[in-house]
Amino acid sequence: MVHNDAFIHQLAESSEYFLASLGNRWLHVQGVAERARQISKAFNTDDAIHLLAAAYLHDIGYAPTLKDTGFHPIDGAYYVRSLGYHRLASLVAHHSESRFEARLRGLEHLLDEFPRERSAVADALTYCDQTTGPTGLHVSLEERVAEIFHRYGESDRVSQALRQALPYLSLAVARTQWRLRMRGVTVATS
Ligand SMILES: [Fe+2]
Repeated sequence: MVHNDAFIHQLAESSEYFLASLGNRWLHVQGVAERARQISKAFNTDDAIHLLAAAYLHDIGYAPTLKDTGFHPIDGAYYVRSLGYHRLASLVAHHSESRFEARLRGLEHLLDEFPRERSAVADALTYCDQTTGPTGLHVSLEERVAEIFHRYGESDRVSQALRQALPYLSLAVARTQWRLRMRGVTVATS
């Protein structure tokens, strides 16, 4: 995939177009993209572009106009796949261990249409998402989880899935922090 700043700018614009009316969602996505930009120097050019592009697209499935299954990782992935970006679609589909909520919703078979990438880029997307709060500020994974429990309620399906996913989210965050340390990349903590 040969892409450049203009490509990322175009994705940012379409993400804003779809999400700007959804309260804080666009702020969160901009925060995740900022985080991805900060750590992108730890990756080769192609991986860095995929990380940044996926950061902008990961929550696009929340857009009412893209609603299909009602589960945003899959609905977002359908849209991204329709644009012809298959690797990006898989990153979006599986971001932040979506498989747990997909299972609770009985949608695993739809998620399985997208091959899961296990890579430093996939870990980094989860890291960026899980260390960015709902208004785009940097938070710890613990703060992020506590905020989601508070926002959705402890018994909500989102919270149930998050409890199941948490060990895997922690590992993805830890692996990413280790890779960043190994490459001498430091990130702002606020
Ligand atoms: Fe997100």
